[in-house]
Amino acid sequence: MTTTAREAVPGVAGEVLAEYGGRVSRHDLYDEVGVPVYHDLAAVDTSEIREVLRVVRAFPGPVLELAAGSGRLTMPLLALGREVTALELKEAMLDLLRERLAGAPAGARERCMPVQGDMSAFDLGRTFAVVVLGTTSVSLLDEEGRAGLYAAVRAHLQPGGRFLLSTVDLTDASADDTDLDFEAVGASGRRYRMIEHWPAGASTRNVTILPPKAEAAHASQVLALTTSIRVLPADRLERELADAGLAVVQRHTLPATGPRHRDVLLEVEAV
Ligand SMILES: C[S@@+](CC[C@H](N)C(=O)[O-])C[C@H]1O[C@@H](n2cnc3c(N)ncnc32)[C@H](O)[C@@H]1O
Repeated sequence: MTTTAREAVPGVAGEVLAEYGGRVSRHDLYDEVGVPVYHDLAAVDTSEIREVLRVVRAFPGPVLELAAGSGRLTMPLLALGREVTALELKEAMLDLLRERLAGAPAGARERCMPVQGDMSAFDLGRTFAVVVLGTTSVSLLDEEGRAGLYAAVRAHLQPGGRFLLSTVDLTDASADDTDLDFEAVGASGRRYRMIEHWPAGASTRNVTILPPKAEAAHASQVLALTTSIRVLPADRLERELADAGLAVVQRHTLPATGPRHRDVLLEVEAV
């Protein structure tokens, strides 16, 4: 098995990978090989866009988007007529965002500033009306990283500004099945097999993306993309934010994106 990600894949996905054996080429969902697949799936994902835009509209001024990826939220934010600074760690993602901007109207392109940076430690030397961290991406950071994020966000917020971040809402979570095995279709029309492994109460969930079964059965090489996502319930984040001088002023419920749980958008201000 070719592997760039070191940890063993748990659950059903691990069994499937063992079955495919030496044909498996394993990569992280956010490395150079994984990024095009992420982008294909993100392009059809409209979750939280409406709710984010609704809050952003109420706070006029420049927007800082963290972990912007290939621009799933950046493009709608630009469509509001705002100036958007899009901070992202991976150059491969930023390249996709730049490609997307190249095809956008000149006005939007000129209002967007893609920046390579780490959301847990950044200093842009200016402030913003709104800082957005969508797609539950706060879960990519460990505790130390989140402390750095909160301090940096606080330093970049204009007085009266807002920090918007999404996370899981476990209030009505159901964990009947440890493994969810389903198919998703990307913007290209390509189908993907997605397996999410999340034992009840576990603090991480693992997602593996594979070709559909029938395709994998005949392929000489099977691309497996993996990612591990921390589960950070809203209550926990609210406590961490308070310790960092940031107060949640409202929780906006987000539409369900899967059978297991909902996400929630936290609207936060500096205190
Ligand atoms: C789940 S994706 C979300 C991308 C985009 N917001 C969207 O909705 O499609 C998470 C993104 O966070 C980026 N990322 C991971 N760690 C980061 C960090 N420390 N600082 C900035 N970006 C990071 C990844 O490269 C990836 O593009």
